[in-house]
Amino acid sequence: MEFFDGKTALVAGGAGFIGQHLCRALLNAGARVHVVDNFSTGTGHVPDGVTVDRQDVSIIRDFRAADVIFNLASPASPIHYQADPIQTWKTNVLGAMHLLEHAMACKATLVQASTSEVYGDPLAHPQVETDWGNVNPIGPRACYDESKRAAESLLMDAVRTQNADIRIARIFNTYGPGMEIEDGRAVPNFMAQAKAGQVMTVHGDGTQTRSFCYVDDTVQGLMRLGAIDAARGEVFNIGNPNEISVAELADQINQACGNKSRVEFTQRPIDDPTRRCPNIAKAKQLLGWEPTIGLADGLGRTLGSGPIDPKVSDLFHLA
Ligand SMILES: NC(=O)c1ccc[n+]([C@@H]2O[C@H](COP(=O)([O-])OP(=O)(O)OC[C@H]3O[C@@H](n4cnc5c(N)ncnc54)[C@H](O)[C@@H]3O)[C@@H](O)[C@H]2O)c1
Repeated sequence: MEFFDGKTALVAGGAGFIGQHLCRALLNAGARVHVVDNFSTGTGHVPDGVTVDRQDVSIIRDFRAADVIFNLASPASPIHYQADPIQTWKTNVLGAMHLLEHAMACKATLVQASTSEVYGDPLAHPQVETDWGNVNPIGPRACYDESKRAAESLLMDAVRTQNADIRIARIFNTYGPGMEIEDGRAVPNFMAQAKAGQVMTVHGDGTQTRSFCYVDDTVQGLMRLGAIDAARGEVFNIGNPNEISVAELADQINQACGNKSRVEFTQRPIDDPTRRCPNIAKAKQLLGWEPTIGLADGLGRTLGSGPIDPKVSDLFHLA
């Protein structure tokens, strides 16, 4: 993307799953890339050519100057964000505040990685940016859902009162090479089980739906948010509208791996959303963005290429 050529990008959370792919794409687009990350989750791999500061965004206020800031710093998997819920809250609220102050000080664009979890267990389907969501504010997922909502609220106040240059991406489930298998997210979990010839464990009866977006598509969406003026002050769903039940996903991954193991249904986590599917009309119209990589293709790339994490690549490499 020509816009980034010669620009300086600061990627908070750049050592995480999406962050690594974003850093690589920014470097390829000619940007200088700095990462700030406390290495609390993710695989901790950062591409060569990136400067890394090991810092906690909920504490630090003094970051490297940049033209564009991407705030991805946050645990993303329920296992990680529920392990230390107060730290999750601090990261998402105080971290967003510190990066906002920094963006204002260096007149940078700030792209905030929000989440489809702001819709909670949605009342409307598919989810549109104008939906207010249906979130349990005191449940075990609230540390993530509500802190991401608080960050959106803070940043939109800064748009209204301080003319801050903010763009918010509500990212839906993203998958691809480089995910950690231990973090409990559906795609790496199923892949690890199928590859090892184990029973596939599916939450509930598996009829709950998700929409999975290949990481390259998500990264393109985030970069467009940073580059295109029409995104200023706006919120966008970034996800793949191809909705699939979790049981179907398990089945598809099982088949791709040639695993004959049966599926076992386990207890559904508290407040687990029933349906998830983005309406991406706004991103199509204002950003000219839509996903280009279908699920079968993306799963094949994830299995075939081997993720960035060497621990995982042994498991994921198809014989
Ligand atoms: N992957 C998805 O499906 C998905 C979906 C919706 C939203 N998101 C959002 O996208 C972003 C990236 O997600 P991901 O899947 O790459 O997660 P990840 O856990 O792989 O990466 C997050 C990175 O943030 C870092 N981090 C966490 N707390 C920090 C802190 N206090 N200070 C500095 N760094 C910190 C971690 O060490 C890690 O490198 C997150 O903000 C997440 O909420 C992701």
